[in-house]
Amino acid sequence: MVRLLPIASGKGGVGKSVLAANLGLALARAGRTVVLVDLDLGGSNLHTCLGVKNKHPGLGALVWKQERSISDLLVETGYDRLWLVPGDGLMPGTANLEWFAKKRILKELSSLPADFALLDLGAGSSYNVVDFFLAARDGILVVKPEVTSILNAYSFLKTAAFRLLQRSFPESSPGRAAVAAFAAAKTEGAGVSFLGFARELAERFPPEGEQALERLGSLRPLALMNQGRGGGDAELGYRLRDIALKNLGLSIEFAGYLLEDEAVPRSVAARRPLVDLEPSSPFARGVAAVARRIAAAAPGGPAGLLEEGSDIAALVDEAWARAAEEEARSQAGLGLAEER
Ligand SMILES: Nc1ncnc2c1ncn2[C@@H]1O[C@H](COP(=O)(O)OP(=O)(O)O)[C@@H](O)[C@H]1O
Ligand SMILES: [Mg+2]
Repeated sequence: MVRLLPIASGKGGVGKSVLAANLGLALARAGRTVVLVDLDLGGSNLHTCLGVKNKHPGLGALVWKQERSISDLLVETGYDRLWLVPGDGLMPGTANLEWFAKKRILKELSSLPADFALLDLGAGSSYNVVDFFLAARDGILVVKPEVTSILNAYSFLKTAAFRLLQRSFPESSPGRAAVAAFAAAKTEGAGVSFLGFARELAERFPPEGEQALERLGSLRPLALMNQGRGGGDAELGYRLRDIALKNLGLSIEFAGYLLEDEAVPRSVAARRPLVDLEPSSPFARGVAAVARRIAAAAPGGPAGLLEEGSDIAALVDEAWARAAEEEARSQAGLGLAEER
């Protein structure tokens, strides 16, 4: 069965599309069949990262012309085992998808004959984004090592947690009204905690409330820090993990840490994933490590699915070690050139 891997972020420009393209290629090179799905409904550009021309029908065709199935939309990327479902071809109005349209897309995605479907999502916390993020218990949340990015990521998770509770109850049910009332009244750190409220829902409105609490407890968002610069980055990662656990009862794991790397914009300009263009670059090797961890984790597995990789401080150290190796390699290269 295909494993859906949504890739989200609190704000744009953090590297979701670059990550989707590179992670997809790394997984494909590791022998997995991968479909990249451009679900950035307002600003799709995943095709650019892969050098695919913008001329194919995209997900809009699926929503508005019901006769098509998602396999009609698969576009070759020029890489073995890596396919793209473009986001272009989306017609006006698609940016605000009704729940039925999302359900249809999700159903089609689950039928993809692939090992992984990476969902490149739009920025922000609209329900369009959040609903696709919730398609998996372990979606990837990309953050930058900046306080604003951490706060955005936290507020994204908060919206996701609320949406999960809300969606657990039928429309205009008392349970749903209780969620809305709590969301409206909630001020940070005051009164009942989010988790306390979720437990209360379970008691007051079984069985939906119990299911909601269970689903909340099984969420295991994977944070991925991109464009790292060093000093204090791990600290920021721990802060995100701590507030998400304390305020929302969510256990975050770290899927990876990638350094800021000037080779990345170069690869974007060249319209080739860096994993292909410069596989030995620290960024490409970092992405390959993320791919290994994700491929090794059991999809429905127990908590701690990324045990070996989830300590952000260790991930930061590894990334710097890779950068130092690359530096040493290029200096050795220069030295040899001089000797000749
Ligand atoms: N690790 C990195 N180092 C340097 N630049 C990066 C890195 N990751 C992303 N970028 C740059 O950030 C820009 C935005 O990336 P993109 O994937 O389009 O973000 P998003 O999809 O989240 O909006 C790209 O032009 C890319 O060159
Ligand atoms: Mg993008």
